[in-house]
Amino acid sequence: MFFMKISVDEAQKLLKLGKVVALPTETVYGLAASMDYPEAVSEVFSLKNRPSDNPLIIHLEKSFDLFQYIQEKPPCLEALMSAFWPGSLTLAMEVDRLKVPENVRANLKTAAFRVSSHPVVKEVAKKVGPIVMPSANLSGRPSSTKPEHIFYDFGEDFPVVDGGLCEKGLESTVLCFTNQVWKIGREGALPKERLKQILGYEPEALRSSKAPLSPGMKYKHYSPEATLKILSDSAQGKVVIGFSDRIYQNSKAVYSLGISSNSEEIAKNLYKTLRQIDEDGHNLVFIDCQMPKGDLYEVILERLEKASSI
Ligand code: TXA
Ligand code: MG
Repeated sequence: MFFMKISVDEAQKLLKLGKVVALPTETVYGLAASMDYPEAVSEVFSLKNRPSDNPLIIHLEKSFDLFQYIQEKPPCLEALMSAFWPGSLTLAMEVDRLKVPENVRANLKTAAFRVSSHPVVKEVAKKVGPIVMPSANLSGRPSSTKPEHIFYDFGEDFPVVDGGLCEKGLESTVLCFTNQVWKIGREGALPKERLKQILGYEPEALRSSKAPLSPGMKYKHYSPEATLKILSDSAQGKVVIGFSDRIYQNSKAVYSLGISSNSEEIAKNLYKTLRQIDEDGHNLVFIDCQMPKGDLYEVILERLEKASSI
């Protein structure tokens, strides 16, 4: 099979020509456009079939690049930046609207920023400038954590920089500063506990408040084509997504997310497994949701809940 794997140099050139390419990050793959090309940004929306009211994350080369887009620094901003950037935290806050194209921020007063720890993103942003990048999947599908996932969603000639399997496997945590307080717009790869250490309080999660802060959260998400159900009794005759340290007696097939005590390994394998069941042509799959407690497990369960709800 022929795949369009491109070098970092080719990615930079294509982005500077106003084209869209896929890049690896430490969380999930992104569909990248240069922020200087509004048409390329529009193409990102249309390629993904993404509603235009769901804003995109701006990926910066260096932390302090953020300051050119904002007029006021929210409390704890610099502490958050120095603790978690580069890394899997996205920070959304009010911006100078003239400096961030309207379609990137979906016409909101705020925009979301991240500095990725992935060397490819850093290198590309250094040459091209700010990179606008949602996850590289069709809207509603699980995010891509391998180049093959992008080819499945966007075709085999889609240009991708191959970074192998993403290190985290879950999207960044989105923290929004709104009404004078930081709130979680989307839980993700950076556990809430770590945010509490810096903020001094546990930020309220979007799930528990009424108005969605992170516009993307109201849409269907992370879903494979197969129907997913929770494994609540015997695995007999069923296709199961489970753990390598458990036995699923007389099951038809088992897809392992890893050892049940290793949440990082489970996170890394999650989308890959959800996509694998589609590739293998299963229509109905049962997930073992018996997981220990803890931050990352909660995020994994939330993704599975969303993936299994229609
Ligand atoms: O890990 C990630 O965040 C990946 C990689 C590629 O960086 N990107 C990603 O982008 O997951 P996307 O577009 O799939 O998800 C971005 C999330 C959405 O839930 C969106 O609504 C939210 O961030 N978001 C973007 N701008 C926002 C804003 N101004 N205020 C609140 N939420 C915002
Ligand atoms: Mg996404």
